[in-house]
Amino acid sequence: MKVILLGAPGAGKGTIAKLLSDYDGSVQISTGDILRKSVKEGADLGKKAKAYMDSGDLVPDSLIMDIMENRIQEPDCERGFLLDGFPRTVPQAEALKKLLEKLGITLDYAINLEVPREVILDRLTTRRTCSNSECQAIYNIKSDPPTDDGKCKKCDSPVIQRDDETEEAILNRLEIYNEKTFPLIGFYEKEGLLKNILSLNSKETVEEIKKNLQTGM
Ligand code: AP5
Repeated sequence: MKVILLGAPGAGKGTIAKLLSDYDGSVQISTGDILRKSVKEGADLGKKAKAYMDSGDLVPDSLIMDIMENRIQEPDCERGFLLDGFPRTVPQAEALKKLLEKLGITLDYAINLEVPREVILDRLTTRRTCSNSECQAIYNIKSDPPTDDGKCKKCDSPVIQRDDETEEAILNRLEIYNEKTFPLIGFYEKEGLLKNILSLNSKETVEEIKKNLQTGM
């Protein structure tokens, strides 16, 4: 499948992308994961991105497009891809549209995960993430906890809270989402690619997406 996952911070884009990737081998491309890995490795990209990320601001479009133009042309994307956290602004969506046209790639859908704000706030404060940048498995101390001693069930690395999970950064991310990312819903509606899904239960959401992909939405 070739799908964009839209939704506010904490809506479950990463969780749903991982489940869909297990389903048909489409590769999850999370710009957030790529940036966090670069920060951890001390790479140039990470140095440029860290301050924006820690405060909950968006990284400049030019940096993101440099990453994505290359990433989307890597061989593993031929099986399909799930874009998680990208595009995030109208200029990124326009640049992606041009890039896909140039590469002759057609998107299946832009799926907008709808989740009430109070659920999102609860999920973000209770999320935990694997500290291994090759893994970055997502947990939740309420709905999907790591091991009893706080380790990742997949790779046994310590599970941590992200640097952008302070209350101040979370509120800033939600505000920036409303201002910069929410308009993408209208963008993809006009493109005829939008599918809204009320996403309160990840397994049910994945089943709905699978069903829609099989039957056409
Ligand atoms: P990014 O990593 O993309 O963060 P985000 O969009 O804020 O999204 P999150 O990862 O916080 O949430 P999610 O929707 O993936 O939810 P999750 O599945 O984890 O970006 C981080 C930063 O990088 C940005 O702030 C920005 O600075 C920069 N950046 C990244 N991309 C960029 C771009 N394109 N342009 C510019 N800057 C960019 O789920 C959340 C929690 O809820 C988890 O604990 C999970 O277990 C739980 N949960 C999920 N679903 C359910 C469910 N159904 N029931 C119960 N719990 C659930």
